[in-house]
Amino acid sequence: MTSSSNSHDFLPDMAVIAREAGALLMEYFRQHVKVEYKGEADLVTVADRKSEALIRERIGQHWPSHDILGEEGGLRDTGSAYRWYVDPLDGTTNFAHGFPVFCVSIGLEYKGKRIAGVVYDPTRDELFAAEQGSGAYLNQQRIHVSKTTNLAECLLATGFPSHKRHKNPNIFFYHQITLHTHGVRRAGSAALDLCCVACGRFDGFWEFNLNPWDTAAGVLIVQEAGGEVTDFKGGPFQLDSRETLASNRLVHPALLSEFEQIFSGNNMEPLPEMHDFRR
Ligand code: IPD
Ligand code: CA
Ligand code: CA
Repeated sequence: MTSSSNSHDFLPDMAVIAREAGALLMEYFRQHVKVEYKGEADLVTVADRKSEALIRERIGQHWPSHDILGEEGGLRDTGSAYRWYVDPLDGTTNFAHGFPVFCVSIGLEYKGKRIAGVVYDPTRDELFAAEQGSGAYLNQQRIHVSKTTNLAECLLATGFPSHKRHKNPNIFFYHQITLHTHGVRRAGSAALDLCCVACGRFDGFWEFNLNPWDTAAGVLIVQEAGGEVTDFKGGPFQLDSRETLASNRLVHPALLSEFEQIFSGNNMEPLPEMHDFRR
């Protein structure tokens, strides 16, 4: 892998940090830790906090002048041109229930551009990594998005927010797109969903209202694997745009057209009525 335009090669240290945090998560996972509530259905555990503390400490040791935005610890703003985005445990609800789908996500921005990202899944020992302009890797092997061209043959993924779920329109998108594809998975870790698009396991992924720490690493990994990431109208993806649509690029126009139809309420597949089940 070549170094990024600003002549640093961040990935080796980022990989070490993500693996260290992942090992810490696995220790807590085996202990079935107590769950606390940040909101009505927004969970947090000691593992989230300890993982973030570890990652912040390591970033501080390697790059003391850099800004850090972490889900649990908030923003440390030093005015640096570099900003780290840290999700110390993406998939907390899964983690808290003993469902082994979660990861550590660390992304790095330089002057507002995403330049490096790692996502580590400690349950499978899979490290996804990308540096701007250098391709995307899974455990050092180059990865690419899928080659599926037909939306009807796609396997997609989505997610639902932990809070204000009643205000989220995604259930309509889930219903509609499920009926038009091979299916839509809701595995519970947005960063891993993006990495699964990057390595071709999924053909696409969308979610409303993700946070920058969910997407900073995964979006770069998808782009470096040859995929496309936009908002729901096809405009450029922004970390703070709250709309994430990622795909293998080939089915992006078809997905955008699905979104357009659903937003305008056209050609909606009717939701089943209870009497259909009783028959
Ligand atoms: C959540 C996961 C989930 C997504 C939620 C996120 P967390 O992150 O990525 O898949 O659907 O929107 O909040 O809270 O487990 O870090
Ligand atoms: Ca997250
Ligand atoms: Ca998290």
